[in-house]
Amino acid sequence: MNGKFIPAEQGVISVRTHGFSYGTGCFEGIRGYWNEKDQQIYLFRLREHYERLLRSCKILQTSLPYTVEQLIDLSIELVRRNGQRQDVYLRPVAYKADPIIGVRLHNLEDHLIITSEPVGNYIDITGLHCGVSSWRRIDDNAIPARAKITGAYVNSAFAKSEAMQNGFDEAIMLTHDGHVSEGSAENIFLLMNGEFVTPAPTENILLGITRDTVIELGRREFGRITRERQIDRTELYVADEIFLCGTGAQIAPVIKVDHRPIGDGKVGPVSSALQQLRLGIAENTKRARAPARACSRSILGGMMETPYACPCG
Ligand SMILES: Cc1ncc(COP(=O)(O)O)c(C=O)c1O
Repeated sequence: MNGKFIPAEQGVISVRTHGFSYGTGCFEGIRGYWNEKDQQIYLFRLREHYERLLRSCKILQTSLPYTVEQLIDLSIELVRRNGQRQDVYLRPVAYKADPIIGVRLHNLEDHLIITSEPVGNYIDITGLHCGVSSWRRIDDNAIPARAKITGAYVNSAFAKSEAMQNGFDEAIMLTHDGHVSEGSAENIFLLMNGEFVTPAPTENILLGITRDTVIELGRREFGRITRERQIDRTELYVADEIFLCGTGAQIAPVIKVDHRPIGDGKVGPVSSALQQLRLGIAENTKRARAPARACSRSILGGMMETPYACPCG
């Protein structure tokens, strides 16, 4: 908390905290993969997550007294101290800390908390039934989705609860002009005529680190380019395959949308291969590289294989 390592139960904030009252914070969700053989946790694309956090901070007029490098160091030290021997989820939150009444962004004190906790699968990754949400995705001129703003997640919560309470596994949200945007906490990809298609950055999406990884994996491993463009709702119904992706969801194939089967209603071969590849990234990376090198936080191999290793235990 603000650069100090303290037990979670001592990480207390005032009930009057601005970020708590008004949702004026931004955050990240970072996955760390435990490797039994190496006795290490590998944090996936830590640098990119902190670069995005600082971009979110810029939008939210939040200034942290840390560079990306320092945030990486703090995270590694946190994981090291926690000594967890399983997959972990790191949640850095930068928030407006003043205990005041008054909605604004400027002239407020900014604080940072980073927590680390055990994590499993966030959503079912064996085949989802998604429903197009009646809740529209927040617009860039309302609450910018490209910044991971805490308060903006009320929009996701509306969509997720509606979907689940209507018997779906997950929501697909549309923009105000009715084009496909993203899931409640995942980006979306369609496979159409052999190409990956995903909503463009201007479709009120969070620019996901996993999205970026999928685009790169698609190109490198499958020789498929990704078209970033506007997508109509009914393109969902006729896509050959669909999957959601994100730090929490990883690669989550979609087998039905609005009661219509996608393809033949089973997990498609490309989604499945990508899922295996994505789930295997940590494994492959770990097997191939010496932990001692990883510990020195050198960039390991290609762009999607840049976990940082923290010796634990
Ligand atoms: C709204 C939203 N979209 C997409 C994503 C996927 O982003 P990433 O792959 O960086 O986890 C997330 C996950 O945090 C999210 O909350």
